[in-house]
Amino acid sequence: MIKISGFKIYKHQSSNRIINIQIEDEVLKKLLEKFSRFDLTAIEYKPFTRFTIAKYLDDSSDNQLSKLLNEILNDRNSGCFVIQPENLNSKIDDVFLVKLSTAVAHLIGNPNHDAMAGKYYARFHVKHEDKSDSYLRKAYTNMDLHTDGTYVKEITDWLLMSKLEEKNVEGGETAMLHLDDWEYCEELFNDPIGKQNFVWGSPKSKNIDYKVEHPIFFSDQEGKPQISYIDQFPEPKNMEQGLFLQKLSDSLESSKKKIITKLPVGSTIVANNYFWLHGRKPFKENLGLSRELLRIRGKFFT
Ligand SMILES: [Fe+2]
Repeated sequence: MIKISGFKIYKHQSSNRIINIQIEDEVLKKLLEKFSRFDLTAIEYKPFTRFTIAKYLDDSSDNQLSKLLNEILNDRNSGCFVIQPENLNSKIDDVFLVKLSTAVAHLIGNPNHDAMAGKYYARFHVKHEDKSDSYLRKAYTNMDLHTDGTYVKEITDWLLMSKLEEKNVEGGETAMLHLDDWEYCEELFNDPIGKQNFVWGSPKSKNIDYKVEHPIFFSDQEGKPQISYIDQFPEPKNMEQGLFLQKLSDSLESSKKKIITKLPVGSTIVANNYFWLHGRKPFKENLGLSRELLRIRGKFFT
């Protein structure tokens, strides 16, 4: 594994495909100082400041980190990394973590506008009580394996998820599945129905007032399977499409190759959105349950 001074880089404990990157205290100290140049309003209102903090992060690795992150995401055998402070302290708060997530994202590509939040990133809570219209905030239901960006026009090459805070949490682990590990990939990928156009809509909270059409499966440049799928939003046109979606959903959820992992507070997971699916296990019921997450989705720099 490549060595970068100030960072600890190794294979993740739950999968050889996922690379874990820890930022050492010395680097964090410098980043805390440099990031304090901008408040969150500046970061949100002035897109160029996001590149400035991304460059601060890359500078701290002698410009090695951006290279590594892009190599990982474009490597079919990996395509996923977790980056986190090696040690947490009181200065590593939600504001710093938003900036760190922003910096990581801007070493990879440009974020898409997140219509749910009205800006380039979304912060949201998962709590005991929920009245929303999607699975995102339903704490006690399994969030089935899916990819992001299925119902929007924007290209969604990658997604980033950070854990900002958590209280009274048991369960709610992250589930990840790489297409090449999935037992039913070949069968479903080779079924012509999966390559038909499906209609994708979304509930009100997503703030998307149009529908899109695209197939579930498509090939990369080498003919390897890629997927764009979520259970809640495709609108099957007929029995054939309905039954295909049911089969797909069942064979994803019954996979024995899912990687179930507990991501610590302060960590950010970034995955290639074409061959990694992600989901969440149900939480254990607790009135005081609270988890705050941040997400950014985007496309690679071209
Ligand atoms: Fe998602």
